[in-house]
Order: sequence, then structure tokens, then C-alpha cells
Amino acid sequence: MTSQFGPSYVREIAPYVAGKPISEVAREFGLDEARIVKLASNENPLGMPESAKQAMVKAAAELGRYPDSNAFELKAALAARYDVPAEWITLGNGSNDILEIAAHAIVEKGQSIIYAQYSFAVYALATQGLGARAIVVPAVKYGHDLDAMLEAITADTRLVFVANPNNPTGTYIDGPALEAFLDKVPRNVAVVLDEAYTEYLAPHKRYDSIAWVRRYPNLLVSRTFSKAFGLAGLRVGFAIAQPELTDLLNRLRQPFNVNTLAQAAAVAALNDQAFLEESATLNAQGYRVLTEAFERLGLEYVPSDGNFVLVRVGSDDNAGNRVNLGLLKQGVIVRPVGNYGLPQWLRVTIGLAAENAAFIAALEKTLAAAAS
Ligand SMILES: Cc1ncc(COP(=O)(O)O)c(C=O)c1O
Repeated sequence: MTSQFGPSYVREIAPYVAGKPISEVAREFGLDEARIVKLASNENPLGMPESAKQAMVKAAAELGRYPDSNAFELKAALAARYDVPAEWITLGNGSNDILEIAAHAIVEKGQSIIYAQYSFAVYALATQGLGARAIVVPAVKYGHDLDAMLEAITADTRLVFVANPNNPTGTYIDGPALEAFLDKVPRNVAVVLDEAYTEYLAPHKRYDSIAWVRRYPNLLVSRTFSKAFGLAGLRVGFAIAQPELTDLLNRLRQPFNVNTLAQAAAVAALNDQAFLEESATLNAQGYRVLTEAFERLGLEYVPSDGNFVLVRVGSDDNAGNRVNLGLLKQGVIVRPVGNYGLPQWLRVTIGLAAENAAFIAALEKTLAAAAS
């Protein structure tokens, strides 16, 4: 629908496509909700931690009041955990909110923002939403080409988005490469390092991005409670940056963007080391099961360091949608990624063992039906 309202750069935005909700698939395909497997939104298959549930029940008594706008306890917990002053933290309604606020706080209409081809869709949305110019740098092996991203910086570039690991491809950049990149980015260009999946990194792949925040005033590290911490429905994300950037973000942030229940649950989840470890272990096991199945079925996939895998399900540009429909009919929801320019691929979130098995069985059936 064309509108007479709003700036053209807003009218031209293609809205974000979210994973299909279970209830919608049940209605559309006449299926029993209880038997539907959703592996479409990179959620934690363990659900939310019990510790967070208990903290929410306690906090519910306070819901007649506004949330603590400065989120004293959550910021104190984050500050202690990441060894930074509380003044370096900005909270977001999910890290999506952080990415949006950062773009709006740092970049003016007409200036440019750099991000990689096949990187997280919200970078494009945030860029377009403020009328900035997107410089999309071609991917190499479905991941970021940091050298080319550096070369793409122009006089009007104010922000570079880097996702590590990246969604939807799962690609990973190692610490030394990132550090060398940060060292070369001009100081008047901010870097948002989006680490939504960092808790899933294998121990030998971890690096200390918070140490870089202390060194680079133009770096903002974005994290979320939606993935390994298991709180996607509550919407809590946070940024760590030096005061110059943090002050800017806080000017644009809505005063009550993280609600009371979310604040309480996030403090509990942050301190629930056992849950985090269980999540990472389950993810590593599921990754092995899914990728072994892809190899057995002769399907190409992109090695992933997140809680999802991108798999090529055919060689024609309708393959993603076709196989997706076959899966939906069997009650398995994954994510087609045609909107990312990857129409032959599907992104599947790593689930519980039984969910992974249901997906693999449904995938085999769909592929066999297509071949016969
Ligand atoms: C790379 C990346 N960044 C940020 C987000 C935003 O997550 P949330 O807003 O739930 O924190 C996602 C969610 O899928 C993501 O994949």
C-alpha cells in the first residue's frame, strides 16, 4: 500500500519479518499447537531459567509502579559482571532497541552507515529509518570482509555495524582480526559490535571485547538476554561503551524501556551460571546432530558459532520457500531467508534433542517427496 504520509525513506522500508508464531501455524495448517516445533527465532530451547521466573514472581508485587528508569540493580549486576562502571551501560528493550537507538543517536540523515551483506536485518532497518545511506559490503564466505568494510568508510560514514557471530549466517570473526579492525577505524566513526550470540562461543573462540571498550571510545558492544540467557519474551538488551557514546544513547532512550519484571529476571539470569552452561552444552550437542544430518543428506551449510545453522536446501530460488512449506505442513517452523538474499537457504535454530530430531525427520521427508 502506498501512503501519502511520512518521508519516502520510511515508506520504502520493507518491514522486519519475524518467525511465525506457533498459534498462527496451528491455525493455518490445522495442527495441534502442542506438536508444533518452533526453530525459527534463535530462542533458547530450554525456555527461561527457573531463577528468573522466581525473581519475576517477587517483582510482580511492584507492578503498580513505574520501573526504575535507571535500573540500578541490573546495571550494578552488569557492571560487576563485566567490570565496567555502571555509567558505561545503556539498557534496551531487547538489543534491537540498542541498535536502533545507537543509529539514531550517532548518525544524521544523509550520512552513511556500513554493514555487511547477509548481516542482521535490523542494521538495514535502522539505517533506512533515519534516512541514512547504507553502504553494504559484499560478504566473503557468508561472513564479514573487515578489510573491505574499512575501505568502504567515506567522509560521511559515522557508524559501522559488525555482528559476531552474525545472524543469519552464524559466521565468526576471531579476536585478533576484530582488534586489528578496531585499531584502524577512524575515531570519528563509531563501531557497534553486536554480540547477541557471544555466550555460545566455544571457550577457545572467546575474546575480551570489554577490554576494547576501555581502549576505544568509538566502540559500543551490544549484548542481549534473549538468546543464551533465555529471556527473549521479556526484551532486555544492553550496551557497554565509554561515557561519550553512552550519554548520547541515554538521551534518546525511552525512560522506561526495560520493565520491572524484565529487570528482575535479567539480574537473576545474569547470575545463573549453571543455566548458561547448560544452554551452551545443549547447543553444542544440537549443532553436531544437525550438521551431521546435513552432511548425510548432502546439504551445504555454513559453519555456525551461534545457536542456529544456515542450510542450503536446494539449488533453485524457490527452494527455501518450497522446503519451508513442506516443513510447516509437518508442524516444523524454521526461517526462510529470501529476504536476506538467500532464497535457497533456511535458517534453523538449534533446539532440544527431540525438536532437532523432528526437524531432521520432516526435512528428510520433504526432500524425499521433492525428489520423487
Ligand atoms: C545479531 C543479532 N543482534 C540482535 C538481535 C536482537 O535481539 P533482541 O532484540 O532480542 O536482543 C538479534 C536477534 O535475533 C540478532 O540475531
